[in-house]
Amino acid sequence: MKIVLRIQRFNPETDREPHFEDYPVQARPTDRVLDALLYVKNFIDGSLALRKSCAHGVCGSDAMLINGKEHLACKTLVRDVAGEDGAVVRIEPLRHLPLQRDLMVDQNAFFDSYRAVKPYFINSNPVESGERIQSPEERNVFDDPTSCILCASCYSACPVLDQNDRFLGPAAIVQAARFIFDSRDQGFEERLAALDQENGVWACENHFECTRVCPRSIKVTKNINLTKRKIKERTS
Ligand code: SF4
Ligand code: FES
Repeated sequence: MKIVLRIQRFNPETDREPHFEDYPVQARPTDRVLDALLYVKNFIDGSLALRKSCAHGVCGSDAMLINGKEHLACKTLVRDVAGEDGAVVRIEPLRHLPLQRDLMVDQNAFFDSYRAVKPYFINSNPVESGERIQSPEERNVFDDPTSCILCASCYSACPVLDQNDRFLGPAAIVQAARFIFDSRDQGFEERLAALDQENGVWACENHFECTRVCPRSIKVTKNINLTKRKIKERTS
């Protein structure tokens, strides 16, 4: 089938504003949108800038808006976004992060939030018997947030960030939850500075857009609410 990729382009050296350009490409319904984008880059216009790495839904680098919704281009099939021959598929960069070029955004604000919650294991007690023992039940408690690939789709989809660019964002709270609910971790208090404040967990308004767009099917809003509850329990 033939589809038209309508791609947002922006060259900071020559453009004042982003604009769209159309690229007709041949694609099979079972091709991925990433394949079509790489065809444009490799055979039509090598200046097209986009991020991708693994091409298998693991690294999180090719999140973008496809027909207005956050998707990983490598996990989105042409048939799921182009219903008929000649269909136009709109491709744009993620929201809420400064545009660098074409489909690439500056991810610094996203990763600043990530670092603010100290997304690593904290426990300075000596390890007895060579390892820190944990039961399968204790491990299951934080299984969901371990799936996060830091794609920033939730950050892009979050309506709170439309109004408040100081909000920590959903992904950082998911990363905090991964450690807060780990029975071996002792960093809860250290993470409160980022979490227990106006622009931390309390800014979340439960819109559920983060949960809807997460390509790993993480229950993002649930993790945020569990974190809110844990903070209330531990600080009241
Ligand atoms: Fe991406 Fe989901 Fe992680 Fe958000 S929670 S960064 S949408 S994988
Ligand atoms: Fe790695 Fe798509 S390129 S997730």
